Amino acid sequence: MRTDTGQIINLADYRPTDFVLERVDLTFDLHPTETKVEARLIFHRREGIDPKAPLVLDGDELLLSGLLLDQGELPAEQYDATPESLTIRDLPESAPFELTITTVINPEANTQLMGLYRTGGIYCTQCEAEGFRRITYFPDRPDVLAPYTVNIIADKAANPLLLSNGNFLGGAGYGEGRHFAAWFDPHPKPSYLFALVAGDLGVVEDTFTTLSGREVALKIYVEHGKEPRATYAMDALKRSMKWDEERFGREYDLDIFMIVAVSDFNMGAMENKGLNVFNDKYVLADPETATDADYANIEAIIAHEYFHNWTGNRITCRDWFQLCLKEGLTVYRDHEFSADQRSRPVKRIAEVRHLKSEQFPEDSGPLAHPVRPTKYREINNFYTTTVYEKGSEVTRMIATLLGRDLFKKGMDLYFDRHDGQAVTIEDFVKCFEDVSGRDLAQFSLWYHQAGTPLVTASGAYDADAKTFTLSLEQMVPATPGQSIKKPMHIPLRTGLLAEDGTVITPASVTGAELTGDVLHLTKQTQTVTFHGIPSRPVLSLNRSFSTPINLQFSQSASDLALIARYETDHFARWQALLDLGLPNLLQAARDARQGAEITCDPAFTDALLAAAADESLEPAFRAQALALPSEADIARELGGNNDPDAIHAARQTIIKRVAEAGKAVFTALYDSMQTPGLFSPDAASAGRRALRNTALSYLSQLDETPARVKAAYDAANNMTDLSAALTILAQRFPDAAETATALAHFRDRFADNALVIDKWLAIQAAIPGAGALERIRLLMETPLFKRTNPNRVRALVGTFAFANPTGFGRADGAGYNFLADEILEIDQRNPQLAARILTSMRSWRLLEPVRADHARSALMRIERAGGLSTDVRDIVDRILK
Ligand code: PHE
Ligand code: ZN
Repeated sequence: MRTDTGQIINLADYRPTDFVLERVDLTFDLHPTETKVEARLIFHRREGIDPKAPLVLDGDELLLSGLLLDQGELPAEQYDATPESLTIRDLPESAPFELTITTVINPEANTQLMGLYRTGGIYCTQCEAEGFRRITYFPDRPDVLAPYTVNIIADKAANPLLLSNGNFLGGAGYGEGRHFAAWFDPHPKPSYLFALVAGDLGVVEDTFTTLSGREVALKIYVEHGKEPRATYAMDALKRSMKWDEERFGREYDLDIFMIVAVSDFNMGAMENKGLNVFNDKYVLADPETATDADYANIEAIIAHEYFHNWTGNRITCRDWFQLCLKEGLTVYRDHEFSADQRSRPVKRIAEVRHLKSEQFPEDSGPLAHPVRPTKYREINNFYTTTVYEKGSEVTRMIATLLGRDLFKKGMDLYFDRHDGQAVTIEDFVKCFEDVSGRDLAQFSLWYHQAGTPLVTASGAYDADAKTFTLSLEQMVPATPGQSIKKPMHIPLRTGLLAEDGTVITPASVTGAELTGDVLHLTKQTQTVTFHGIPSRPVLSLNRSFSTPINLQFSQSASDLALIARYETDHFARWQALLDLGLPNLLQAARDARQGAEITCDPAFTDALLAAAADESLEPAFRAQALALPSEADIARELGGNNDPDAIHAARQTIIKRVAEAGKAVFTALYDSMQTPGLFSPDAASAGRRALRNTALSYLSQLDETPARVKAAYDAANNMTDLSAALTILAQRFPDAAETATALAHFRDRFADNALVIDKWLAIQAAIPGAGALERIRLLMETPLFKRTNPNRVRALVGTFAFANPTGFGRADGAGYNFLADEILEIDQRNPQLAARILTSMRSWRLLEPVRADHARSALMRIERAGGLSTDVRDIVDRILK
């Protein structure tokens, strides 16, 4: 493991390499513990570079076992090799030269899951961001692009399949029991997109004919016997390929596109050129084992990785500071894809929920960083919701500012201008400036300034003048390393409604640019006047969440109810219901902390139940409206001195009030929202299941016994309903015999399906209360839990730390201490995973003083431990700062 050196990488220090890499020829002689890698690299010195400058290649835990220059041995004094680098001196001044580098690596011992490793008996690689340097010495940075030839030699019986990027060149026997295969990828690529897979897997095959009539072979490789569970992923892949042609004019560019599902993987999936490698969680699905949410995730991630072929692979990042160039853009593309495949407003609601619960806390805490950072200590820690989700929001805002057609033109220009290059955010933004003539300098602050802007709004109607005046003020909070901020360009989509719910169209607007329904807020304070307004308008601000801000705008309950009822923008309706409910939840949490009585405004329950019963609304929308903000959301909104027990009690009380007021509505929905017939994962059916299970959850609040929920569990014929019923049993009746029976039944039925066992672990890890920790410890002892598998660790330890505020945050600090022990343990094996789970502590300063003290001691214990990875060291230092 790489331990911390304290080194910081700065964007300002970027400079191109001294040597240009022309081509790469790799030969892998695979062996579980001693794989020989021979890398033949052709370089030439870049023009104008000092003829004496040495070539310095990156390594990570490498051991050099051979080095040739133009096929000749190199004298020892001409080079230095350490595990971290290979430096070669006295290389030709301008002529190309060939280096042959041999390393021997141990895939079996690779527990970090970076570089070449073994998972479920197969060989697999993960190279982003800096994993390639664990395979061979290399200029391992994204601006070094070259075509690759890859030869793979392996034992034939154990590894009938030998895969790499690009097109298949050929294969043959190779001595006793062995064989080889050769692949060539003509598209120059950086090393982080390299992939190799070898082993024995089953396959699902199909073909896709591109826009210009080329036939592409599609293959999804999974463990033998799991092929039927890959058909949905294949369907999603074909829909993604078609969508990218229709929406962005992007065609696939090789003869074959492959996906391999593996069971040990640090992230969701990886876009290696022509050979995507996936966490099997995001490939495998059937009605019996996958929920509607799993299907939606699979569709989105298959699309995401496929879309990277153009946004990430054909055009890549100049350096890792530009990560959002490929990730923010590609998330935006996959969001748009899902919106087109499903319900746009419901998709938008889910995105905003996710953004607020994951990215907003990051942006307001110690780990806050700009979408395009300027320094890092460990790049693995920058695969964040800020780079991904806020990066996507920034791309969405460009589309909002320019409008659909100009945005498309800008994208076309980007593809034309930069195909085959490694570029920056500035290059990307320039394309949109060039097609629109709009100056995006101020807008670009979204890339550079961290922190969620706070916009405060207030309005006044003048009946005589028939004007409505809107006063806006923006404030970007200080974040680590950035105390002073400039005003941003904030595109606020805005609507005006009359008291009867009809749309008011102003005669004119002064004080701000208005394009379509987009108000451009560009100054720190701005007064906007809407002219020709016949009656007092109700303002709907930030429609569709056109900009990722916190908005402070006090509107009366009746105005919010009007928006909830009449807005044409359904996202805004959902937002209005949330705005009605949130103050109740916050007040309830304060009251609970004081031991005062908890009340709930009937205006909120009335509006909520009216939406729940409104048959003109999609069921999925209604389910989203009924899902109250989480305890973590409430904690974030409270903003300090938080007591998880009080928040839990408050939220439960409000839920109970909604259940009581809505008993008739929920009973009717539970009966009417059935989905008879064969299971279909389509969005409409999923919406009905979501609404029905939400109704069940509310009804369970009124039940004295688990009978109704247990009956739902017994009757369930798909994983969505089954896991929903089990979740409700565990949350509402944790100690009931029926719950124990159902949990045991679930475990026994799915003991051989690790992905379903993850649900079983996560459901139990989320059961609230001080007893959670004991439950976690017991579950860690079951043979179904495997410490070495990231999905198992995330399901159990991750769910506990991220999604069980009362259990994890119990008052005696035992939860934080447990996490500290786990982090130190996991870090020895898999630093990326340890660092990721440690981010669950990022909001510790918002806790009430007793818990905050416990949290600090646990963090300091990690900080003082010796031998930390750079990954964990970086996170713990920043969280404590
Ligand atoms: N690039 C991957 C994606 O977003 C994520 C990833 C990063 C996977 C690093 C592995 C390692 O699609
Ligand atoms: Zn991505």
